[in-house]
Amino acid sequence: MKPVKVGICGLGTVGGGTFNVLKRNAEEIARRAGRGIEVAQIATRHPNAKCDTGATPITADIFDVVNNPEIDIVVELIGGYTLAKELVLKAIENGKHVVTANKALIAVHGNEIFAKACEKGVIVAFEASVAGGIPVIKAIREGLAGNRINWLAGIINGTGNFILTEMREKGRTFEDVLKEAQELGYAEADPTFDVEGIDAAHKLTILASIAFGIPLQFDKAYTEGIARLTTADVNYAEALGYRIKHLGVARRTDAGIELRVHPTLIPADRLIANVNGVMNAVMVNGDAVGSTLYYGAGAGMEPTASAVVADLVDVTRALTTDPNNRVPHLAFQPDSLSDHPILPISACESAYYLRIQAKDHPGVLAQVATILSERGINIESIMQKEAEVQDGLVPVILVTHRVVEQRIDDAIAALEKLDDVVDKVVRIRVEQLN
Ligand code: HSE
Repeated sequence: MKPVKVGICGLGTVGGGTFNVLKRNAEEIARRAGRGIEVAQIATRHPNAKCDTGATPITADIFDVVNNPEIDIVVELIGGYTLAKELVLKAIENGKHVVTANKALIAVHGNEIFAKACEKGVIVAFEASVAGGIPVIKAIREGLAGNRINWLAGIINGTGNFILTEMREKGRTFEDVLKEAQELGYAEADPTFDVEGIDAAHKLTILASIAFGIPLQFDKAYTEGIARLTTADVNYAEALGYRIKHLGVARRTDAGIELRVHPTLIPADRLIANVNGVMNAVMVNGDAVGSTLYYGAGAGMEPTASAVVADLVDVTRALTTDPNNRVPHLAFQPDSLSDHPILPISACESAYYLRIQAKDHPGVLAQVATILSERGINIESIMQKEAEVQDGLVPVILVTHRVVEQRIDDAIAALEKLDDVVDKVVRIRVEQLN
C-alpha cells in the first residue's frame, strides 16, 4: 500500500521532534498503521538544527502544504489562534485530515473547527494538545467510555510545575527557573500563558469537554496563576501536611460544572502531590473505575511528538472508515452534547487555606472563629505561629472544610474589616482528591 503523505507546518520543538520520531521509528509505525507514514512536505521559515530533514521538500508558505494535492494529513504545529485557525479551516475545506498540538486553538475555536470537520468528513486529532506525551485524551475518550466521569484534576502545565518544584526544592528564584524553562523549549511563546494558568485553562477546557460531553467553553474557565505565591505559604502548607500545586480542576455537580485553574493545597501523601519538575499528571474519577492517574512528560520535543505521531497512526488507520462511525472529536456524538452550565467560581465548592496576619491580642482567634461560624464555615485545622510574632503581628493559618466559595468571599471581606487584622487575607483552595 502507498504510504500516507503528511505535511508538517512548523518545524520548531514539536515539529522537529515529530519529523525525527517518524523517521527513526518508521518501520514500527508502518507495522502499526498498516502502511508507511511519509513526510512529503514541510513548511518552515527557519531550519531546525536538531532535525535533519534531508531531501524532504521545504516551503516557507504553510498554505503550500494545505493546498498540496499530494498531502493527506496536515500537521499544524505553528501555534497561536489566528493563522493556525485559517490554516486548519483551509485544510479541512480541502478535504485533508488535521493533527494539531495547538491547545489554544482547540479550546477557543474547537467547536467551529469540529463542526466544519464533521461537514467534510475529516478528522481533527489533538492528543498532543493536552499533557504532551501522556495519552490522556485517548484514555478519557475511549478507555473510560463506560463511565460517568465525576471529576478530573491535573497538573497540566509543565513550566509552572517546574517553577514551583525548583523554587520549593532548591530555593531558586521564579525568574531564574522561568528562563531555564524557556531555554528548554517548555514555556509558551508568551510565558505569562504558563504562569497565569491560561495554558492550563486551555487544556482543562478540552479535558472537561471530552469528560462530560459539553461544548468547549474556555471563556468560562476560572484562571488564577502562581506568580503571587509566597515561600511563607509554601512552608506553612508543608507544615500542615500539604503541597502546593497549580491544578486544573473540572467537577460535575447537580448545579453545573466547575472549571477552574488555581494554586491548590493537596495532601502531601497523594501521588499527584509528588509529581515534580516538568512532569504532568491527570487524575480522572469515574463512577465505575474509581480514581485513575495518568503521568508523564507534559512538554518537550519528543514527548509531544509521541502524541502527534500516535494521532497520525490513528488517522491513517481511519482513512478508509465511514466518518459517521469514527470516535467523535469530543468523545460524545456532536448532537448529544449537554448544555449543563459552567459554574462561576463563586458557586464552586472547595476547602480553603486562609492566612490571616493578625495583631497578637487576646480574643482575635475568637473573632475569626465567629466570622467563619456565622457563615457556616467549619474549621478543620488551625495553626498560630507564636514563634513568628513580628512587630506585634502573628500569622494565623487555618484550613476549612468544603464550602461554597461565596461564603469564603464574604468571610474574607468581614475578616479584612477587623481592626486586629492587617493586610489582605491569603486564600488558597484545598482539594483532598479522594
Ligand atoms: N508550555 C506548556 C507547558 C507546553 O509548559 O506545559 C506544553 O503544552
